[in-house]
Amino acid sequence: MEGLPRAGRDVLTLAVPKGRVLRALAPLLARVGVDPVTVLGEGEDRRLIREVPALGWRLLLLKPDDVPTWVEYGAADLGVCGRDVLLERGFDLYQPLDLGVGRCQMVVATRQGMKTLPDPPRIATKYPRCAAAHFASKGIQAEVIYVQGSVELAPLTGLADAIVDLVETGETLRQNALEVREVVFDVSSVLVANRAAYKLRGARARAAVEAFRAAFDTEKSP
Ligand code: PRP
Repeated sequence: MEGLPRAGRDVLTLAVPKGRVLRALAPLLARVGVDPVTVLGEGEDRRLIREVPALGWRLLLLKPDDVPTWVEYGAADLGVCGRDVLLERGFDLYQPLDLGVGRCQMVVATRQGMKTLPDPPRIATKYPRCAAAHFASKGIQAEVIYVQGSVELAPLTGLADAIVDLVETGETLRQNALEVREVVFDVSSVLVANRAAYKLRGARARAAVEAFRAAFDTEKSP
């Protein structure tokens, strides 16, 4: 089997999240000079590497949670990932720029009208570390139950008293008769870089960060 083409020394490799975040990111990438068709593809485009010869960039399309892994190991120079993933998994990456896309909030939510949480509360979440840290910061040792999705079901079925999860429009909570109790932290997509690589291969990576910064500033003040 032939190996993947290796990136030349002068190609900058960016790890980007597939799916919803990439669609949100596409307009910003377009202002940086990446044709939306290159990132979003046409029809059933399953290629995971997308070249942008005009910029000398190579994009790696990854599951959002995996972006920091590629950057941490230096298999990508830069990456785009959510603050939620960085905080939950404890990655120590350089974060030169908040891209302001994919904005949402990590919240504690319960059934509508629930007065008080039992102590200790049982919390269902895809983010056990963030959930435990949040309650610990209030002096509460929560019992945290890890689930992979459909978290909103937990308080409705007696699995947990509350959930810690991301809320964007609030529609999923509303349709499942839940409500936000507390905001844990704000989330958005940030540009990340491996700290050491950013120093060594700094010029090209810094130029890319500045291109994103200029595109972001243009978007804020059209
Ligand atoms: C996320 C999150 C909520 C929902 C919030 O789930 O876990 O369930 O989106 O969005 P809203 O406030 O706009 O309704 P996702 O769609 O990623 O699916 P998942 O449950 O499979 O993780």
